[in-house]
Amino acid sequence: MATILRDLSYRYQWLYDGISRLSALSVGGEGRFRRLALEGLTIEPDTKVLDLCCGSGQTTQVLVERSRQVTGLDASPFSIKRAQHNVPQAKYVEAFAEAMPFAENQFDLVHTSVAMHEMEPDQLQKIFSEVHRVLKPGGSFAMIDFHQPTNPLFVPGVAVFLLLFETETAWQLLKTDLAAALAAIGFNVTKQTFHAGGSLQVIQAQKS
Ligand SMILES: C[S@@+](CC[C@H](N)C(=O)[O-])C[C@H]1O[C@@H](n2cnc3c(N)ncnc32)[C@H](O)[C@@H]1O
Repeated sequence: MATILRDLSYRYQWLYDGISRLSALSVGGEGRFRRLALEGLTIEPDTKVLDLCCGSGQTTQVLVERSRQVTGLDASPFSIKRAQHNVPQAKYVEAFAEAMPFAENQFDLVHTSVAMHEMEPDQLQKIFSEVHRVLKPGGSFAMIDFHQPTNPLFVPGVAVFLLLFETETAWQLLKTDLAAALAAIGFNVTKQTFHAGGSLQVIQAQKS
């Protein structure tokens, strides 16, 4: 379902960022939220990084502080324009995540934050396959997204958030075993951690 708030939050960056900041309090603030998926990964200045579905560059900003070789990809021309303005240190590509215009074995790290819940199940499969294709052997995929809360106290908050801002695909994602989906494609899932009462999950997976 979702409400007008979803459209407004995509139209007005201050609203999107305000909601993100508020939601991130559940993990100790936005600074921590933006770094959670990257914890434990080595990112050097020459690490080739792809921020998949980069939006307006919210986590791209964190990535360019560590690497000089960051590319942001998003399907929305508005998001790409904003990201170019907000984080000019990165390169940007307007494209669909399920058909990336990159040759295989290009990136050391593909990162994506709170975007996979916008994908239909078959789209998600294609995106994971694409991530596997564009990663170098030994490269890592790191993601953070929703998860079915394990602490019942978080269930009402997540339900209200999804009703206000998300569509059916976010509810489908709660029922999806993302780690199993990645393993089925050939990834070696090296880490899966849960945060905010289990309502957020971080997954890191390696291409062998
Ligand atoms: C909720 S935003 C997340 C933005 C940012 N990663 C963040 O952490 O705030 C989801 C983003 O995914 C992008 N997106 C949705 N479907 C996509 C697709 N099939 N291919 C590429 N980008 C897509 C949207 O344009 C949007 O910028």
